[in-house]
Formats: sequence, C-alpha cells, structure tokens
Amino acid sequence: MSAVAPLNDPMRVLAHSIRETAARPLAEARALPAAAYVSEAWFEQERLHLLQGAWQSVAHVSQIPSPGDYVNLELQGERISVIRGEDGVVHVLSRVCAHRGMDVMPPESGHAEAGNCKHLQCPYHHWVYGLDGRLKGAPLMKTHAAVTAGELALNAFRSEVWQGFVFVTFNEAAPPVAEALAGLAPHLERFRMHELELVLDLSWDCPFNWKVLVENFMEPYHHLGVHHAVFQPVMPAQGCWTEPPLGDGVVCHLPLADELQRKVKAGEPQLLSFPVLPGMQPADFLEWTVFLGAPHFLLFTAPDRVYWYRIEALSAGRMRLHTTLMVDRRATSVPGFEATLAQEEDMLRRFHLEDMEVCSAVQAGLRSQAYQPGPLAELEAPIWQFQRWIARRLEAAGF
Ligand code: FES
Ligand SMILES: [Fe+2]
Repeated sequence: MSAVAPLNDPMRVLAHSIRETAARPLAEARALPAAAYVSEAWFEQERLHLLQGAWQSVAHVSQIPSPGDYVNLELQGERISVIRGEDGVVHVLSRVCAHRGMDVMPPESGHAEAGNCKHLQCPYHHWVYGLDGRLKGAPLMKTHAAVTAGELALNAFRSEVWQGFVFVTFNEAAPPVAEALAGLAPHLERFRMHELELVLDLSWDCPFNWKVLVENFMEPYHHLGVHHAVFQPVMPAQGCWTEPPLGDGVVCHLPLADELQRKVKAGEPQLLSFPVLPGMQPADFLEWTVFLGAPHFLLFTAPDRVYWYRIEALSAGRMRLHTTLMVDRRATSVPGFEATLAQEEDMLRRFHLEDMEVCSAVQAGLRSQAYQPGPLAELEAPIWQFQRWIARRLEAAGF
C-alpha cells in the first residue's frame, strides 16, 4: 500500500467529501461526487484502498473442474490466471513470466480467456511452468544458477474458495473471505452455490465506472423506469426492501407481485425455468434477491438459478463485465435444456442491455459540468450502504 495523500491533496478532499456523503442518514442520502467515478487519480486510490486490499471474485469452481482448467482475467493491471493444479488445488497465478516479464497467456496473441492446458508455456522464449506456477524448463539455460536453484515460479496471489467462488486478494493481511463476508453467509448458504453449474457466460466491455454497475445492480428503484416492462410487472419496485447493514454485505429483497405471490401460495410456482435448487424453502419462491459482497461480488438469485456478475475494474471509466447464469447440475440433463437456456440468454441480454444503456449514459452525465449529486430514494438503500462500506475503507486507510 502506498502512503496516504497529504492533507491538501485533491484526493484527500474528495475522500473527505465521500465520507461526509456516506455519513448522512438514509433519509438525507445523496449520490457521490462525480470525481469518485471519473477521476483516474481517484481510481488509483480505489485500486490501493478499496479493490486490491479486499477480496475480488474471479471464478466459479464449476468453470475449472479438472486439472489444467483455467480462467484468465485482468484486475487493475494485474494479468492473472485462475487455474486448477494437478492435485486439484486452485491457484491464482500472475501471468508475468519470471524471465523478462512477458504475459505467459497473452490475449494479444489470441490466447483464450478460458480453457485447459497441460502446462503454461511463455510464447517469448518458451519457458515452461507447471500448473502450480513452478518453472519446469528454460531452453538452453540448464546450467544457469538461477534456473538450477529451482526456485523460479510465477507469482501466486493469495486466494480462497468460498461458497463455490474463487476470490483473490493482493493484501496478505486481509481477513479470510468467510470473515469479510460473514454477514452474507446466512442468506447464501441454502443456495449451495458450490454445487451449481455455470452454463452461460457473456462478456461485455463497459464504458463506465465499476461503482456505476454495482449501484445499478443493487438498487430496485430503476424497475420503475428502465425495466418497466421486464421487471416492474413481476417484481415491482415499491415492494422491494433492503436488509439492515450486514458488515461488508448488502442484501436487497425483490418480492414477487401480489398476484404472483397468490399463485405461489396456491401451489403454482412462478417464473421458474430450471429445476428448483435443492435447499429452497417455501418463502424463497415468493421473491428474488440481489446480493453485494463489497467491493463487487454481485449475485441475483431465484429459486431455480443464480446470476453472478464478475467485474474487472480496469480504469475510472472502463470495466469488463461477465454476466453469468448458474443452475442446478441436474438441469443440464433435463430434456429441452438447450432451448430453455437460449430463451434465458435472450432474457439476460435484454435486461442487461437496458442496464448497459443507462450505465453508459450515467457515466456521460458524471463527466458533465452540469452534474450535481442528487438525493437518493429509500429504495436506493443498497447504494447508501455501499457508500458506507467505501467510507469505512477510506477511514481505515487513513483518509
Ligand atoms: S519472457 Fe517468458 S520466456 Fe522469456
Ligand atoms: Fe437493472
């Protein structure tokens, strides 16, 4: 972690303004200042104090079931590979070659974002690494002392598997994920997410700040507007409510419309496309739910599916997003699964494109000199809770 900015630094002034905003009661809550979303200098502070010091979700275990299976991604400039080793252990490896720094699986050469490999071979001079990151061979350098010492390896970042997701942190002192996100556990455990199968993975280049997406994902107020056709009739904004703060977790309930709830109670479950997840209780059929594990672990759950949004925050105004769908393992062998999945993909694209449009236009608004942080509705309590998480992190970092 770098030193904290001096008192008169614009970053410190901005941090103060963010903390002041977050300290307001919900009834007086406001959006954050524009610079929190558009300033590259602020993004650098976030990289240090909000993102790389926390836990970021990078893969679901079902994406890498076998040795050699990998998912590649980039987190704030760090190119990493989430890869299952020969012994079944998941490693989160830096892709920076221990020779002269080449990416060992470069997208510039068309390397796939996900796949299976026997080992990792750097394309530059063909150094070869095992699935645990250890150097196995360096052509024509067999007598070099640094190579024969057998200590060269790709850097391994600290990682943990929790609720079926692989998380990484760049902070050796971070508490375990289970501790950081303990508030979410009682709400998530019955979904048994480690047993789910990821069956859809769509990737999007997003011209907006990562917090714009988190805020959009978490607040149901916009069902009234941009999702007035898709979500408002089935999960009306006015019925939605947010749990009291749960540490680093935020949970917002989206109850089904009254008419749909009546049908559920009469024994006709609603909005189901896949086999019901085994741990579901009767009350689970009456709502969908959105979850945030700060900074950006995002889930949208229903009794028969879980959507997981994976964020790669790249700069102040740019992020990459994967919108995924997970279902019970049995679902894939149900006759007609492919057709159902195609319909659900259409649905996911439809509501996500609605969100993409507003998030992109919000980022343009944040860049405008006309922008003023506006008041938040009670239905935007998840944003207010997220602000308070940011403020706590800033305070802990000495801002
Ligand atoms: S930089 Fe990787 S082998 Fe040379
Ligand atoms: Fe939305």
